[in-house]
Amino acid sequence: MTALLSIRDLTVTYRRDGSEALKHVSLDVAAGERLAVIGESGSGKSTLALAIAGLLPASTRIEGCIDWFLPSRSGVTERKAQRSSAKTTHIPLGGRDIGFVFQDPSASLDPVMTVGKQIAEVAYTHLGLGWSAAYAKAKTLLERVRLPDPNAALRAYPHQLSGGQKQRVAIAAAIAAGPKLLIADEATSALDTIVQAEIVALIRQLVAEDGMTLLFVSHDIALAAELAKRIAVFRHGDLVEIGTTAQVINTPHNAYTRALLDAHLGLDAEPLLQQAGTSP
Ligand SMILES: Nc1ncnc2c1ncn2[C@@H]1O[C@H](COP(=O)(O)OP(=O)(O)OP(=O)(O)O)[C@@H](O)[C@H]1O
Ligand SMILES: [Mg+2]
Repeated sequence: MTALLSIRDLTVTYRRDGSEALKHVSLDVAAGERLAVIGESGSGKSTLALAIAGLLPASTRIEGCIDWFLPSRSGVTERKAQRSSAKTTHIPLGGRDIGFVFQDPSASLDPVMTVGKQIAEVAYTHLGLGWSAAYAKAKTLLERVRLPDPNAALRAYPHQLSGGQKQRVAIAAAIAAGPKLLIADEATSALDTIVQAEIVALIRQLVAEDGMTLLFVSHDIALAAELAKRIAVFRHGDLVEIGTTAQVINTPHNAYTRALLDAHLGLDAEPLLQQAGTSP
């Protein structure tokens, strides 16, 4: 597989005298793969996701590099700016290269803008569509993420929707400009288990249909095993292990990975071991 992006020796420090949130991380992400990033709270998962998306705060010190290999620019290696000076209060969800789904859709969606406008705006800004075509695209996307009444949802404000519906809207905005890479950072963690399973299935389907690359960030090793073909394990800012899902689950090299597994296996061993590597 060809690489979509290549991370080399990435070190991220939030404050001048603070400790490193990521330490000398090197990692390739192949075009079209589904990679999970797991680890306990504070291990650096979100820092990695935000670094890739160029969304780290301007005060952050970033060393190392992230190189992109975008098929649209064949043969050209593009080094993307790693800092965002976004002035908007809401972090952009959808772009042409990257779609980003955050944990809390109530925070990532704009509360005073209709759902339709938030999705249409991504298509208007990044695809150059006129507003009526952008709204038509928004409606199609609301159908794709299976909102029960797409016409009503177009005119709804986020607070009129359930948590699961809001996350579907956030996913629609994230994929509206047809990004190469979809980053989901704990995108299902705030949802109850039934809705969580629905959203995981939706992400899997959309990623397959659109041929997107998936970076799935989660503290939940079982969810990671369900969705990803490869798993990267982080601890205290270090990438401690990376391998295929089957390898990481069945024959983990690292003691910390084994501890994560033991914690999960204490709950329910069989389903996880059975599903490892079985997903297409
Ligand atoms: N904006 C910030 N300013 C200062 N320190 C930060 C900031 N964001 C994260 N950190 C620190 O960087 C380290 C890594 O945090 P990060 O949010 O990447 O972890 P995480 O693995 O995503 O955790 P969680 O599972 O809780 O989301 C932690 O020590 C955290 O306290
Ligand atoms: Mg996080």
